[in-house]
Amino acid sequence: MPVSAAVRAALLATAALSLTACGSTGLSGLFPERPAPAPAPQPQAALARDIHSFARPEVARVTHVDLDLRADFAAKRLSGAATLDLMVAPGATELVLDTRGLSISRVRAGDRELQFAFGEQDRILGRPLTIQLPEGVRRITIEYLTAPDAAALQWLEPAQTAGKGHPYLFSQGQAILTRTWVPTQDSPGIRQTWTARIVVPEPLRAVMSAEQLTPRGEPAGPGWRAYRFREPRAVPPYLIALGVGDISFRSLGRRSGVYTEPVMLDAAANELVDVERMITAAERLYGPYRWGRYDLLVLPPSFPFGGMENPRLTFATPTILAGDRSLVSLVAHELAHSWSGNLVTNATWADFWLNEGFTTYFENRIMEALYGPERAVMLQSLGYRDLLAEIEGLGGMAAPDTRLHIDLAGRDPDEGLTDIAYEKGALFLRTIERIVGRERFDAWLRGYFDRHAFKPMTTELFLQDIRANLIRGDAELERRLMLEDWIYKPGIPSNAQPPQSPAFARVEVQARAFAAGAPAANLAVQGWTTQEWQHFLGALPKTLTRAQLDDLEQAFDLNEAGNSEIRFAWLRMAVDNRYEPALPSLERFLTSQGRRKFVLPLFQALMNEGDWGRPIALRIYAKARPGYHPVTSGSVDAVVK
Ligand code: BES
Ligand code: ZN
Repeated sequence: MPVSAAVRAALLATAALSLTACGSTGLSGLFPERPAPAPAPQPQAALARDIHSFARPEVARVTHVDLDLRADFAAKRLSGAATLDLMVAPGATELVLDTRGLSISRVRAGDRELQFAFGEQDRILGRPLTIQLPEGVRRITIEYLTAPDAAALQWLEPAQTAGKGHPYLFSQGQAILTRTWVPTQDSPGIRQTWTARIVVPEPLRAVMSAEQLTPRGEPAGPGWRAYRFREPRAVPPYLIALGVGDISFRSLGRRSGVYTEPVMLDAAANELVDVERMITAAERLYGPYRWGRYDLLVLPPSFPFGGMENPRLTFATPTILAGDRSLVSLVAHELAHSWSGNLVTNATWADFWLNEGFTTYFENRIMEALYGPERAVMLQSLGYRDLLAEIEGLGGMAAPDTRLHIDLAGRDPDEGLTDIAYEKGALFLRTIERIVGRERFDAWLRGYFDRHAFKPMTTELFLQDIRANLIRGDAELERRLMLEDWIYKPGIPSNAQPPQSPAFARVEVQARAFAAGAPAANLAVQGWTTQEWQHFLGALPKTLTRAQLDDLEQAFDLNEAGNSEIRFAWLRMAVDNRYEPALPSLERFLTSQGRRKFVLPLFQALMNEGDWGRPIALRIYAKARPGYHPVTSGSVDAVVK
């Protein structure tokens, strides 16, 4: 169907739609929190075609999703209905949605049956669902069931939780998994307001990335309770998130708190005491926090990521609960996404660096504000080392995937989830900051968040914005920044400056001394922070003798390290050197948490050790796999075979 450029732009833009949609729920005005202002149309960003969605938003576009779902733990299914509000171009006759593994029993507009058909299944994208739209229909209801193996959902047995007493369910939508539990247009450029009613078995509680309308729930038949939510700000669908379990809450501050299983509540609240200060620091840097509350949900150990920036409710792995608050940069990171990612959102997954690079930069500024420049530079330096390792792993400085803007044609967006987006992106922004000066850079970045709030962003539009609002025709500055090299060329441009940490330089002296034969017990490690330990382990020679590993283990008790980052760094080293005394520790680590960032490299390291490592990998994986999330097991399946 031909549609004019103007209609296209209007349909794609979030303009006014979010307010119309939220008005239609009849709930606006009941709550003191101000919904997002209606953003202006943004044709440039809107014109980016998302190759990871079947949607044709220029024809018919979802503006609001209302979920009414029941969680059936025995069948491992969500069942119920999604009612979608639509904006439809004149003359349009159909709506295309993204789905993967959904069973759809019926599509209706009120009581009127609508014709629907699935297209061909794509391994990565799932199946398009095309619904015939009679003239004038602007709201449709889809009755459906999710599959027991829906990739966005993990249904946990009681034994897989911290408390062991109740089952648990959580969702993970990013990047293109929301379509496995919500039939909608699953593209980050198609922002939607949403509401939900979730029915769960008593005594479980449901929480979502939205305002809670019924914190205590309401009766929903014998043995069931319903929880209702609303998100009046238009968000990309990957940010719709659900957690169900034996979940308790503790306040952390005026507008923040933590949800987790009761047995983890004290530890979580203690670890997260600085959250309120982080929000204040973030606001001082780049403007008001626009989402009302900021809470965290600390999940059971199988949560496959470190953290996920679901609006108002960051999801986090319990592996950040180190006991000494040493890993809270992860919280700074997810909080920073409330600006970079959730306010200004990558229009497609090829522009993932706009989410993660900006966030990694912003995260570090929050860490600097709270804990000082020394800690911030250590974190930068760890990131820089990861970046160099990633570039090496991708094939060196000329490898195409070391570009910020990557080509994902025919690929799972997961393949773009590398340290290039995070660390090259952050290094790029630090380079600009250094060249223009912090004050000028901060003013620009704050303006960028304001100008593009609640809108999709593309790499092209970013270039346009920085040229119009920071460079402003200064040809000499343009030349020094090397923007195009950073974005479109592989490797690291010549104007980058590696971070220099004096504390790490001292750590390197100790690492060299050990490598040269000094006993571990004689090293000057007193007062080292977690970051210094991480750097020390990373700075040791790749190949160590059995005696050296014994010495390290005896001096520092590394097999028992409770800090997940230190334990991980040690175990990787141990595997690379076929150090058998670390195997029980490795097995415990791999069977007690399922964070992909830890699990995958350790299995990969085992597999790299051929006849020695492969049988160990197979044995441990057989035991660990049932506890892993599909995101983690999917990745490990490709490696351990
Ligand atoms: N948004 C990401 C997690 C993500 C990215 C999930 C892409 C699915 C697809 C989140 O903000 C993140 O970056 N998490 C990191 C931790 C962070 C401190 C670098 C993680 O999970 O390791
Ligand atoms: Zn992130």
